[in-house]
Amino acid sequence: MPDPLPPPAYVRVPHVDFLASLGVDRTLARVDLAGSVAHVEMLGRAGLLSASEVGLLVQGLRQLAREVAEGTFLWRGELEDVHTNLESRLTELVGPTGGKLHTARSRNDQVALDERLYLRSAIAEVARRLLALEEALLARARSEAATPMPGYTHLQRAQPVTVGHWLLAHFWRFDRDLDRLRATAERANVSPLGAGALAGSTLPIDPASVAARLGFDRAFENSMDAVSDRDFFVELLFDLSLLAVHLSTLGEEVVLFATKEFGYLERTAALGSGSSLMPQKRNPDVAELVRGKAGRVVGDLVSLLTTLKGLPLTYDRDLQEDKAPVLDAVATVTAVLEASVALLRDLVFVPARLSAAVADPELFATDLAERLVGQGVPFRTAHETVGAAFAAGSVPTPTSIAAALARTGVPVEGALDPERAVARRASPGGPAPGALAGQLTAADGRVSSAHTFLSSLDRKVGLIEELLSEEQR
Ligand code: ARG
Repeated sequence: MPDPLPPPAYVRVPHVDFLASLGVDRTLARVDLAGSVAHVEMLGRAGLLSASEVGLLVQGLRQLAREVAEGTFLWRGELEDVHTNLESRLTELVGPTGGKLHTARSRNDQVALDERLYLRSAIAEVARRLLALEEALLARARSEAATPMPGYTHLQRAQPVTVGHWLLAHFWRFDRDLDRLRATAERANVSPLGAGALAGSTLPIDPASVAARLGFDRAFENSMDAVSDRDFFVELLFDLSLLAVHLSTLGEEVVLFATKEFGYLERTAALGSGSSLMPQKRNPDVAELVRGKAGRVVGDLVSLLTTLKGLPLTYDRDLQEDKAPVLDAVATVTAVLEASVALLRDLVFVPARLSAAVADPELFATDLAERLVGQGVPFRTAHETVGAAFAAGSVPTPTSIAAALARTGVPVEGALDPERAVARRASPGGPAPGALAGQLTAADGRVSSAHTFLSSLDRKVGLIEELLSEEQR
């Protein structure tokens, strides 16, 4: 094996370890190589490379893709980053023609390209798991559609709902998260390649054709913008942060509902682990970490926004710091989603505890006031009448409440029955069986549209493997 090539002059500098980003940007190797294949093909079409040079370079790039995949690629820290490592190894493989790869290209437009390609595959991975979570929520919501439970405001028992309605409330939050990821993927689907360092090129390049080859909707409008902004990463980090925050609420509710105080969920082994000290303990660690990881993801968002604040156009080396928070957030949210899907599938509800809680007469106070409204009493008066009846007994029981209400003339017959109370909450978007069925149908529609989005994104992501595979023309 010949000696490795010496580092190119632009990275033969003091403090190369400090400047290096290889530890982080190695992750981008495959998209970087695919981008190079598309770039080389364009240089060929532009007459800047001969057909045999194109063939040699593309073959070499595909060889590198194999080495990277097989783990035999020799990464060299002194070569600073993924781009220089790959270019240098290509030149070792194919000889001086390797020096033509970087024609009309800068690492500035190259890294921006890699990042946009990475974003597409990251969103595909996150969206796939988010969709699995939505499907798990829907399945559980269907089977628990009619199981009554108390709904809360201020964490105080408020009005009766069903477990299905509660789970669907989470579904709609996640559905908007998925929609945001879709919009981010669509907005980011613009190729920056051809922007060069910042001001394009004097050579006859064709950024639009590279963009099309890589599955982008179009190429950049402004070369200075193309190499400098990282708004697509900020959007991704925001989407992931809000998703993580939504997941944290679900985690928190599972933690609460699995306490002895609530007791709505069985403390199954799937929820977590035991305590190293207290033999009786079963902790809901999985749900706790689903809750806890959100802090880290929000930190990643703040980290990138802070890096970007006040940066002058165009490329500044500060931008190198953009990758670590994004990779961290993507890996974290991916793991949280996987844990959450498993958590949801394994939740075991305790119907006896749910029915006991939902039999609390206080949950029906609003319904009773609304019965009076049905008789023509102004709501404010009805509110006071029912409020007074509830305030009368220190520990209201169904019997004491019924007695107090009987004196006020409020019709109580059947009013304190949870199932009937839920059935009466038939206003649009409410928990009654008919309204819930409508909600489930709408949710099914969202899931199938998300599948369509995911297949179209998968097709774009698949272009990377196509460009790197031998079966190519
Ligand atoms: N490692 C760099 C980054 O991640 C690549 C771009 C380097 N460009 C430069 N002008 N030094 O941002």
